[in-house]
Amino acid sequence: MKTIFVTGGAGFIGSAFVRLVLEENADVEIINFDALTYAGNLENLIGLDDARHKFVKGDICVKEEVFAALPENTEAIFNFAAESHVDRSIASASEFVLTNVLGTQVLLDAARAKNVRRFVQISTDEVHGSLPEDDNAFFSETSPIQPNSPYAASKAAAEHFVRAAFETFGVDTITTRCGNNYGPRQFPEKLIPLMISNAMNDEPLPVYGDGRNVRDWIFVEDHARAIWLAYEKGRAGESYNIGARNERQNIEVVKSILDVLGKPHSLIKFVSDRLGHDRRYAIDAAKVETELGWEAQTTWESGLRKTIEWYRANQDWVSRIRNGAYRDYYKNHYGMEIGA
Ligand code: NAD
Ligand code: TYD
Repeated sequence: MKTIFVTGGAGFIGSAFVRLVLEENADVEIINFDALTYAGNLENLIGLDDARHKFVKGDICVKEEVFAALPENTEAIFNFAAESHVDRSIASASEFVLTNVLGTQVLLDAARAKNVRRFVQISTDEVHGSLPEDDNAFFSETSPIQPNSPYAASKAAAEHFVRAAFETFGVDTITTRCGNNYGPRQFPEKLIPLMISNAMNDEPLPVYGDGRNVRDWIFVEDHARAIWLAYEKGRAGESYNIGARNERQNIEVVKSILDVLGKPHSLIKFVSDRLGHDRRYAIDAAKVETELGWEAQTTWESGLRKTIEWYRANQDWVSRIRNGAYRDYYKNHYGMEIGA
């Protein structure tokens, strides 16, 4: 058995990764270390093989908690734990610095102290800033790091500490930078689940600015598979940009959701733009395709349908979130109430 240590595994992408790895690798056991912040949800882990999956509640910023949970000679750390929402980082950045930067450094220290074989940092394409519209430019591994939001700045800072651990101490590191994920179990503050859950409740769909910002969407399982390949085949000290070559304007995404749900476009409500709103993200995935032999397996149309189906079938999951602290966040951020 190989033991891997996954942080943030009760969140959206971390839980998809844990599920995929357990299903596809009978010789792997997972320690899933998560602080269960507003975004962490034990319901995301229901049905996993308990014999090979151990959940530990803990904070990556607290050295004692990390060191107590991380065994000597662990095969790999996969660091998903983060504050992940751009709008929240605009409202208050300190939590992002703490978790995303300090937390990553605590894990890097632990990796050295406990002789962990490989450290995989889950980063984001947003560290590269924004691309011009209607341009053939893409983010590649050599694109400059020029983050624009406090969230992206904290993820970029974390990447620098990962690089420093590799260069200074020879920690075996891999950094992955993926585009916008969508799929089951994504917290409804993010564009796609927010629009699905509002549309299911016949509530307004708040689109920022002119709705023409472009994101490069990837189905979460495709991302999880790419991370695993980067861990297995990636070269130490390298970064890998992950994307499914699927650029969409926000307004197109929102209209597609309404169409699949059979709801009217009149639910769309244009609202004030996000501060510093990045215009376009687009990833050149040539390196993961050629070096790792990865390619996306899920088309946009089938991934969106699967995602909408999951939210339709799991309305209790959505309601429990919409009836919790998210309700106040929503009112505060959008100046509108949501239903149950
Ligand atoms: P998420 O917000 O759904 O989940 C984050 C998880 O981390 C939660 O379970 C939370 O409880 C946990 N966590 C937060 N602070 C913690 C702490 N101090 N200690 C331990 N656990 C803590 O996020 P997500 O969308 O699943 O993103 C996961 C990772 O992938 C993040 O690092 C994010 O930057 C990166 N990423 C996300 C996307 C995307 O589209 N969502 C794209 C590229 C990269
Ligand atoms: P989001 O899901 O927050 O991801 P990110 O900011 O990391 O790309 O937002 C995706 C896009 O959708 C982004 O251009 C902002 C836009 N958006 C809206 O138009 N309305 C919303 O209510 C939200 C949350 C996002």
